Amino acid sequence: MFLKSVTAISLAALTLGATTSIVAAKEKKKPWEVTKVQVKAPKGSPLDYLASGYWFRTKKTQSLQNDDFENPGFLWVEQGKTLWSKVDGKAGKSCASCHQKAEKTMKGVGARYPVYFPKWKKMMAIQHRVNYCRENNMKAKKWKWESGQMLGMATYIRNQSRGMAVAVKVDGSAKKFFEAGKKFYYQRRGQLDMSCAGCHQQNFGKRIRADLLSQGHSNGFPTYRLKWQKIGSLHRRFRGCNSQVRAKPYKRGSAEYTNLELYLAWRGLGLKIETPAVRQ
Ligand code: HEC
Ligand code: HEC
Repeated sequence: MFLKSVTAISLAALTLGATTSIVAAKEKKKPWEVTKVQVKAPKGSPLDYLASGYWFRTKKTQSLQNDDFENPGFLWVEQGKTLWSKVDGKAGKSCASCHQKAEKTMKGVGARYPVYFPKWKKMMAIQHRVNYCRENNMKAKKWKWESGQMLGMATYIRNQSRGMAVAVKVDGSAKKFFEAGKKFYYQRRGQLDMSCAGCHQQNFGKRIRADLLSQGHSNGFPTYRLKWQKIGSLHRRFRGCNSQVRAKPYKRGSAEYTNLELYLAWRGLGLKIETPAVRQ
């Protein structure tokens, strides 16, 4: 026992250099290990606790998110707000014509999505719903998933649920899609033969290249990424994470990614929505 701890300390001394930093490293919990910031994992969760990606980012990135005036993601919230009451399409309507004030009618919607859509017999993400309303209720053209308009609208709608807990339904008709999303999550893929769990479940808190791995939750999406210099959808993030292991990325809005979105939302059940979050 004595010998073992001596080895551990000399090892730490080697990596950290000074005795003082050993003490600091030993006493100080990592931000996501502080009980106060943790959220109880849902029943059946493979994680002991949930922690938002926010706690894995630098103080500087966090402070950008903390201040709505500095958070660049709010440019998209503003754009969505403008589009909300803009008449478009052959029916001569805007979103507001039917849904009135988004602050009221869209509150909580972003926390519930994706939902099972009986007519399609599959899952529907917010972006699908927006285009469904545009095509059928406004007789307007669909927006591309990663277009400025769609990012603005999706961010605006999700922002109406900011501070609310993620609350997707995964039973009943959604069950089958939840299972498909789960399978996707644990599937090893790409040249690196890694699953989502390989990084975000088994190795969160560790560094990979320049990045600190989080639990990979979706509660901040659409998210402003400093690396992208813009806001991006969750499906864009999926494509990035698939490409990192040199696996084939799927299309944004595909059934594969929408099922994965459902499963991922369940993994983060109870986390507060942060849209628009800021990440590095
Ligand atoms: C002609 C009326 C009409 C217009 C215009 C319209 N919608 Fe809808 N929308 C509906 C109806 C009807 C529903 C389904 C009933 C419901 O859930 O409120 C719906 C549902 C939704 C939902 C899901 C709400 C939920 O609780 O699940 C969202 C999000 C949404 N619309 C967004 C939009 C956006 C964004 C626009 C503008 C781009 C828009 N809608 C334009 C009629 C409309
Ligand atoms: C090789 C490691 C690796 C794999 C495998 C991987 N990711 Fe990631 N992922 C990252 C890194 C690095 C980041 C950026 C830092 C962070 O938030 O973890 C990230 C970020 C994320 C985020 C954003 C988290 C936030 O708070 O903004 C989500 C969501 C995510 N990943 C989901 C997934 C999903 C789903 C899969 C499986 C399809 C996956 N990742 C596979 C490395 C990985």
